[in-house]
Amino acid sequence: MKDINVGIIGGGLMGREMASAFARWCALQDMPVRPVLKGVADLNSDTLSWFKQIPGCDLLVEDYHKLLADPAIDVVYVAVPHNLHETIYLDVLASGKDLFAEKPFGIDLASAHRIAEAVRKSERFTRCSSEMPFFPGGQRAFELARNGSLGRILEVVSGFHHSSDLDPIKAANWKRLSKTCGAGGVLNDLGMHACHLPLRLGWKPSRVFGQLQRGYAQRPDGRGGIAECDTWDNALIHGWTEIAEEEVPIRLEMKRLAPGETNTWFIEILGTDGGVRFTTAEPKTLWQFERAAEQWWKRTSLGFTTTFKTVTGGIFEPGFPDVIQQMWAAYLLEREGLLGDRFGCATPAEAIASHEIFAATLASHESQQIVSL
Ligand SMILES: NC(=O)c1ccc[n+]([C@@H]2O[C@H](COP(=O)([O-])OP(=O)(O)OC[C@H]3O[C@@H](n4cnc5c(N)ncnc54)[C@H](O)[C@@H]3O)[C@@H](O)[C@H]2O)c1
Repeated sequence: MKDINVGIIGGGLMGREMASAFARWCALQDMPVRPVLKGVADLNSDTLSWFKQIPGCDLLVEDYHKLLADPAIDVVYVAVPHNLHETIYLDVLASGKDLFAEKPFGIDLASAHRIAEAVRKSERFTRCSSEMPFFPGGQRAFELARNGSLGRILEVVSGFHHSSDLDPIKAANWKRLSKTCGAGGVLNDLGMHACHLPLRLGWKPSRVFGQLQRGYAQRPDGRGGIAECDTWDNALIHGWTEIAEEEVPIRLEMKRLAPGETNTWFIEILGTDGGVRFTTAEPKTLWQFERAAEQWWKRTSLGFTTTFKTVTGGIFEPGFPDVIQQMWAAYLLEREGLLGDRFGCATPAEAIASHEIFAATLASHESQQIVSL
């Protein structure tokens, strides 16, 4: 087992999630690499204190440059507000360390291009976080689409829904303000989740029509005042993509105002000979369409059939912490050149492609016209 020393910049929601995935790395079997959390940088001292419980995580600093100066750290994961992505990603790359970036990989398309250019020049291994396709149901949908068993593809729907913004008195955070989340709003926040799997299949839309909706214009700011919230909350992207020389409708959905949903990622691919449906709302369940003399939808209880094998029994349900760990396994194995043809983390090129989709969607909503990419 080879140890890879990791540093985290931004120890909030996602920084802690990654640390907990490392802490139970023993769940993975036959894994030649192991992430070891060495240090965390965060501006908030209470947030830093949480990491004191992680054995060996001894470098807890407010200034992330101190973390980057530590020669022992090999890989840096960065989970900070979107307006800070570019500066911090560029600093990580300039420090000579490999980067595990968070989505959306820069606050907008221009920023994503500058980051990708820095990746290219630095030659540091860089991927972008997007864990939901690592659910066994997501992996099965990917394989069924990749191996051509669905026949001529008729329609693709990929999306991510939650309902966090339905409560009008929930305090605003940086994700509700364009200056920190980006003009894309929910596109920046949830868009990569919807785009990663279709893009990996080569199904980038060639033209889109976008519908965007805002949430509540004002929310409590959490400090006794009111925050003006100006981001898009829901996005529907109606596109066309080319699959096997046919034009195919593709719909990408991302919503923060989806009644009843909590972090629901879903994919549906319908073809003439077969189809597949998966939603994390039913994490073990895969629906497959089959066409013979009769047509039927077959329900399979997939259980814990993750790509990277674990000690967890095959009958159990996979969840968010499990796919976060699977994603890290993919990142670290690809970094070692050991991923093979297994599904990998989003690449800088895929992050740019997702931003191209978001930029076209914003332009389409603004003009109320179909926009070509
Ligand atoms: N992959 C996913 O499923 C997923 C889910 C949520 C968020 N995210 C992404 O993760 C990133 C962070 O989101 P989050 O929900 O963890 O946010 P968060 O607000 O919970 O955490 C951000 C942290 O960054 C720290 N920070 C801010 N400026 C800093 C600086 N200059 N130096 C060091 N630390 C600094 C803050 O103190 C905070 O602790 C975003 O890019 C977001 O889109 C990904």
